[in-house]
Amino acid sequence: VTTAWQIRAGSAADLDSLAPLWIAVHHRHVETMPELGPYVSDDETWHQRRKLYVELLAKPDTLLLLASVADELIGYGLAHVMAVSETWIPDTWQTGERIGEIESLSVLPAYRGSGLGSQLVDRLETHLRDRGVDDFVLGALPGNRDAIRLYERRGYRPTWLYLSKFQGR
Ligand SMILES: CC(C)(COP(=O)(O)OP(=O)(O)OC[C@H]1O[C@@H](n2cnc3c(N)ncnc32)[C@H](O)[C@@H]1OP(=O)(O)O)[C@@H](O)C(=O)NCCC(=O)NCCS
Repeated sequence: VTTAWQIRAGSAADLDSLAPLWIAVHHRHVETMPELGPYVSDDETWHQRRKLYVELLAKPDTLLLLASVADELIGYGLAHVMAVSETWIPDTWQTGERIGEIESLSVLPAYRGSGLGSQLVDRLETHLRDRGVDDFVLGALPGNRDAIRLYERRGYRPTWLYLSKFQGR
């Protein structure tokens, strides 16, 4: 495994290249919690995600980071800023006015475990702190233990748990 990757900021023009990396996250969700199915198709998951990313990239404080080796995209992370008043946080916790959310993180299987995911999280946090945002959230499926361990090592703690009872299950 190489650590000779390059990280750069991306834009809406890079969105289409993220499809396989996001679909890898979706597959991780399906694999770790098959009991929660039925899941949406690969086409549908990317259709929905892409729409979200277009909205997030239109906001001024959003950062998309792309990691590549040679010209191959091997990972990405995306963070954005929300007013705390738009979140589930302010009726329960004391925070600043603005919350940074790490919306996505993905590293191709061949490059996992080499520190890239951690580096992407660190860079996204630095970007948010540079904008005066010091309170962060992110979401994960509870079965995605590898990802949760990485986040916990960086100081994140389980905070709000949604439960679902979907009729199609
Ligand atoms: C989560 C993810 C982004 C981490 O990226 P990464 O580059 O492997 O991260 P790092 O190398 O900095 O840290 C790796 C940590 O994950 C573990 N890990 C997870 N999957 C791994 C794999 N396939 N191979 C090796 N290590 C893995 C490492 O062991 C290490 O944790 P540990 O030291 O407690 O064992 C990456 O595993 C991934 O893309 N997973 C699938 C998609 C996903 O779950 N995204 C997050 C959704 S919330």
